Amino acid sequence: MKVFTNRSIVLVSIGLLFPALVFGHGDVYHDNVETNKVIPPNQTANRYKSINSEYLKSVKPIFEKKCFDCHANTTQYPWYYKVPGIKQMIDYDIKEAKKHLDMGKNFPFISHETPLKDLESIKKVSIDGDMPPLRYILGHWDSRLNKSEKQTIIQWSDESILTLKGVDHE
Ligand code: HEC
Repeated sequence: MKVFTNRSIVLVSIGLLFPALVFGHGDVYHDNVETNKVIPPNQTANRYKSINSEYLKSVKPIFEKKCFDCHANTTQYPWYYKVPGIKQMIDYDIKEAKKHLDMGKNFPFISHETPLKDLESIKKVSIDGDMPPLRYILGHWDSRLNKSEKQTIIQWSDESILTLKGVDHE
């Protein structure tokens, strides 16, 4: 009994001196005050939302002009669509394009890949100048991405990739 009492006194004293030691929960939000980089789990939905709001503002208008003919349901067919043989090629292109990446529903896009992978490949094709494909550019002289459009897409995908990876990039 005496021992128990002594131990209680000791515990209470420690508790008074170092409350965190006895009562603390080791909460993750407190662990990282130094770096300020703790990101609570399940923020994915919020991240998608903020990426999408930037997308709607700066990138979607470009995609609408230069990508939606193949990557969404708003195709404006060229006059030569009617030419036998061409129709099949264009139909096939559109089917393939949407299979890879359907931009019809804003970000995150409909795709077999993860949103992160999509962003990485959008960034890559924009840097490499692979999209729109050459055969499309030949019929639409103004369809190549210009310098500032390229820059906008690359900057958006870059920042979004960091956002998805949870890296503080401010
Ligand atoms: C003429 C139709 C057409 C247009 C316009 C077009 N694409 Fe594509 N895109 C395709 C096709 C077909 C594929 C799938 C086959 C391939 O990769 O060539 C594709 C695939 C992609 C992929 C996936 C690449 C990969 O490695 O999986 C990305 C990303 C992409 N396009 C982005 C864009 C962007 C951004 C634009 C507008 C700047 C655009 N595309 C315009 C036809 C098009």
